[in-house]
Amino acid sequence: VSAATWSAYDELGDEFVRRAEESPYNAYYDRPNTLSALGPVRGLSVLDAGCGPGVYAEQLVKDGATVVGFDASIEMVNRARSRLGDTATIDQLRLDERLPYPAASFDRALCALAIHYSSDRAMTFREFFRVLKPGGRVILSTQHPTVDWLRKGGSYFASQQETDSWATEHGEVEVTFWREPLSALCTAAIAAGFFIDLVHEPLPVASMEQVAPDTFAKLSQRPGFLILGLWKRDGTV
Ligand SMILES: C[S@@+](CC[C@H](N)C(=O)[O-])C[C@H]1O[C@@H](n2cnc3c(N)ncnc32)[C@H](O)[C@@H]1O
Repeated sequence: VSAATWSAYDELGDEFVRRAEESPYNAYYDRPNTLSALGPVRGLSVLDAGCGPGVYAEQLVKDGATVVGFDASIEMVNRARSRLGDTATIDQLRLDERLPYPAASFDRALCALAIHYSSDRAMTFREFFRVLKPGGRVILSTQHPTVDWLRKGGSYFASQQETDSWATEHGEVEVTFWREPLSALCTAAIAAGFFIDLVHEPLPVASMEQVAPDTFAKLSQRPGFLILGLWKRDGTV
């Protein structure tokens, strides 16, 4: 049996906080692109699903949203709670279980780099659909399926759990995640009722070139992450 998908984050603790805050993939690639895809949030209620240490949630609060975040890792939950204080609610919950929030609670949901940790993406999308208000929208970022395939080999079409080994200051930490073809991810979202209204293969922001020129050059030529917009269409077709 593989370790829980969040146990690596319990182990990483502050080291992941630093990555989330500063690493080129987070600060200069995923965060600016997902927050821009989410659009203005002033006055909106936003669910931050798989919120980690709360770096995105903190920005959403600054931008005028009412934020509820959750994560399965108690270490991440504690760090998000101390970062956000009483400006947001942070719960310890899993992506692959029913959420305790009533139907139609949120205007937006953000799920940044976390869906590939859910062992039941169909359930995750059904819950996002349920807790969103009609007309609401999810912005989701994940590892680009072609990158997982190129890194791991085997069949592009397989949906299977994979393990990466991250070099950290405390040694190697094993991180398990799910890899699946693009069609499987999109089909799960569509089956839950969503319309896909954005397919974005983001580029790094220009300022990455100064801080991480090699990563900038690489991400300018090949994808790292994928961003999808999922819309809970208001009214009947
Ligand atoms: C790459 S981090 C992203 C955190 C945050 N969204 C960010 O980008 O800074 C992935 C997060 O997913 C959480 N996670 C892993 N498995 C999970 C699960 N099954 N349910 C909920 N959260 C999970 C981890 O604890 C971690 O905080």
